Amino acid sequence: MTSASTRLTHSTLVVGLTGDNELVHSAALPDPGALAALASAVGATSKEDAVVRAPGTAVGCDVVVFTGVGEDANPEALRRAAGSVTRQLKGVEDLLVALPSDEPELLGAVAEGLAYGAYRFERYTSRPGAVSSARILVSRPKDRALKDALARAVILAEATALARDLINTAPADLSPEAFADIAVEQGKANRLKVTVLDESALAREGYGGIVGVGQGSSRPPRLVKVDYAPRSARFHAALVGKGITFDSGGLSLKPPKSMETMKSDMSGAAAVLAAVVAAARLRLDVRVTAWLALAENMPSATATRPSDVLTMRDGQTVEVLNTDAEGRLVLADALVAAREDGPDVLVDIATLTGAQVLAFGTRTGAAMGSEDVRSDIVAAADAAGEHFWPMPLPEYLNATMTSQVADFANMGAREGGMLVAGHFLRRFAGDTPWAHLDIAGPAFADSEWGYNGKGGTAFGVRTFVNYLENH
Ligand code: BES
Ligand code: ZN
Ligand code: ZN
Repeated sequence: MTSASTRLTHSTLVVGLTGDNELVHSAALPDPGALAALASAVGATSKEDAVVRAPGTAVGCDVVVFTGVGEDANPEALRRAAGSVTRQLKGVEDLLVALPSDEPELLGAVAEGLAYGAYRFERYTSRPGAVSSARILVSRPKDRALKDALARAVILAEATALARDLINTAPADLSPEAFADIAVEQGKANRLKVTVLDESALAREGYGGIVGVGQGSSRPPRLVKVDYAPRSARFHAALVGKGITFDSGGLSLKPPKSMETMKSDMSGAAAVLAAVVAAARLRLDVRVTAWLALAENMPSATATRPSDVLTMRDGQTVEVLNTDAEGRLVLADALVAAREDGPDVLVDIATLTGAQVLAFGTRTGAAMGSEDVRSDIVAAADAAGEHFWPMPLPEYLNATMTSQVADFANMGAREGGMLVAGHFLRRFAGDTPWAHLDIAGPAFADSEWGYNGKGGTAFGVRTFVNYLENH
């Protein structure tokens, strides 16, 4: 992606429509005069995801693309409108994008949207026609703040693509070990310190939760620590991601339909890896430690049985009443490990409960935990154009995870299941300020919209980057 150019000939020009189908465009667009008439002639509208192509000879270019921005041209609306273009347009190589981009925040949003929408997952098949390059029209192309915003957008786009690639990869090709190898590679490329605990280290060091979840699979679990520790950092965030590379449910086997998207049950781990890589590439002045709790949840003769008791890293014992409530078990151990470094905050992110999907749908995450961390996350998400809604952890639900044989069980009341899971994790977060993010709904898109195609969305990556930038 490059910037300034005002020559329109031989180009596909992109402009937006908002409100009552009013044209919105970059201040650098030389002559918007005839565009409004053209938009109404071809019936283009401001409706989100409405992308309409028109011949551009009357306005001095080859093709004009009108994209619906919705009610008003705020950064997230522009991000979606730009992404909708690159997601939907086929057979166009180079775009000249004249959406409003004259402020750093708007330029960043437009650039991000273009890149997110142009993302294709092509490991197993090619997807013809993706837009391969775009130029964005800006009035002050030499402006430092605009250049920085563009560079940041590129880093976010690459981090998002990394997370999406991981989520979209078939689970046969992404064992816990293979995922750990990718984290090691990312560490090398970005000068991060990566530590991998394999199954024997995990057993030796008392990670009963991760071992218990992973023992049904022929492909053993891993706990990966990815540390970005700039010398001058005065704030340390530990980010813990659920990394179930495939969730069959274990012996509490899921029905076939529910299993279809369970390759995405490692979206939390993908998000924390992408976030620490982005933090390093942005040279943020905060220490970020990502923890990837990786296991494959499979049924087999060696699998954990309902009623088995696990001793967790901190010594607490848990009766596994349902092997499909495995995410909390791997996260619990990882939270304990993360706390051992004494971070200032602890944030976990997970595709944790079906209850989250039922309550929030597929575009909103849920944030629980310490009020200050939770509200910082919610604010960072709002600014990033992702949405996390704050949720309480009512105390009475904590008491529902009773066990006759262990300290507590991995399940409690069915009603409020997302909050019960939050309480479970809270028991392992200790006194460290902590937030728990459940992204079961928004992690994976079953339908296309804005800058998201079907598949992994990388939800949470931008929220983390904004959160870290705020410290
Ligand atoms: N990975 C699932 C949660 C999930 C469901 C994520 C749908 C994305 C979409 C999780 O491990 C799970 O199965 N949770 C159970 C917990 C229950 C047995 C207490 C659930 O929510 O049903
Ligand atoms: Zn499960
Ligand atoms: Zn799961």
